[in-house]
Amino acid sequence: MNDTLILALETSCDETAAAVIRNGREILSNVVHTQIPLHTLYGGVVPEIASRAHTTACDWVTEKALTDAGLTAREMTAMAVTCGPGLVGALLCGVNWMKAYAWACGKPLIPVNHIEGHVSANYLTSPDLEPPFTCLVVSGGHSHLVEVEDYGVYTLLGRTVDDAAGEAFDKAARVLGLPYPGGPRLDELAARGQFLPDLLPHPKTQGRYDYSFSGLKTAFLNHVNKLDQQGVKLPRADLACTFRQAVTEHLCEKAELLIRDRLETDRPVQRMALAGGVSANSLLRSRMGEVCGKYGIRLFMPALKLCTDNGAMIGSAAYWRYLRGETADLSLNAQPALKLI
Ligand code: KG4
Ligand code: ZN
Repeated sequence: MNDTLILALETSCDETAAAVIRNGREILSNVVHTQIPLHTLYGGVVPEIASRAHTTACDWVTEKALTDAGLTAREMTAMAVTCGPGLVGALLCGVNWMKAYAWACGKPLIPVNHIEGHVSANYLTSPDLEPPFTCLVVSGGHSHLVEVEDYGVYTLLGRTVDDAAGEAFDKAARVLGLPYPGGPRLDELAARGQFLPDLLPHPKTQGRYDYSFSGLKTAFLNHVNKLDQQGVKLPRADLACTFRQAVTEHLCEKAELLIRDRLETDRPVQRMALAGGVSANSLLRSRMGEVCGKYGIRLFMPALKLCTDNGAMIGSAAYWRYLRGETADLSLNAQPALKLI
């Protein structure tokens, strides 16, 4: 059987990224051009600046992905692009660029959901992982607990009722004076701190597997502002450590609840996976490892460089869509609020 080679482009936020993926599992090239230096000055992503930067980068980033793979556009089986969710202007850059490129090369065009891409990063890191499995998707805009029933088939088990975990990390980091993007910086700082008990509330949600981060975030911001007003020197590392632990425990607690609920059923959790930018968090990785270890469940995690936005994960997700014949025509548009389920 011939190999299926997919050239994939990702432009949903602040990374222009392209990759060539073989048979959904093997990375032949993976080029990530980050815009972080452009947005740092503003403390967050500025949508118009992001769009302008994508406009000038799509061309050379995809060209480099092909060159790094030692292949030409003609040798590709199909082309893929993230069509949502994300910033509308940023998505439009990638969607329009890839529509034109695929059409000019005479290749099928595969639209990919960005969140499905994050889940699929696990197929690249763990070639033996196959559905069904349970996946905790934690990114800058999403916090979902999902059941991956099959390739491209998802059931929602729980979700955040307010902020996403990554968003909460970024806000907490910002109030501690850490530069954008705050999540990874807060993770580093937390490693040098001590946990401060009784500082943050325990989040409560109505849905059994739902999450809530806004109470934690607000309590944290109020505490830091109070210390600031009192002129107290902030114990920044301790604060970072406390926030990281509270978020991680909340994420792990709900995952463990699901595991326990299913223990004596005909659908026990057998495989758990992490996905999305926050799955790079060092405490989340180790705590989820402990939780899964306690119940003999195998934990899958994307390699660190595949946790945050990249083109490889889009190329992997696209492969199964391609097998199902899910291609798009030139009417494809950006879908900024596209849902996974
Ligand atoms: O998945 P992603 O790259 O973009 C979205 O699709 O949203 O996730 C980015 C988010 C940001 O909020 C970033 O701060 C967070 O992931 N993040 C982390 C870490 N690395 C990235 N949060 C906590 N600890 C990390 N090590
Ligand atoms: Zn993402």
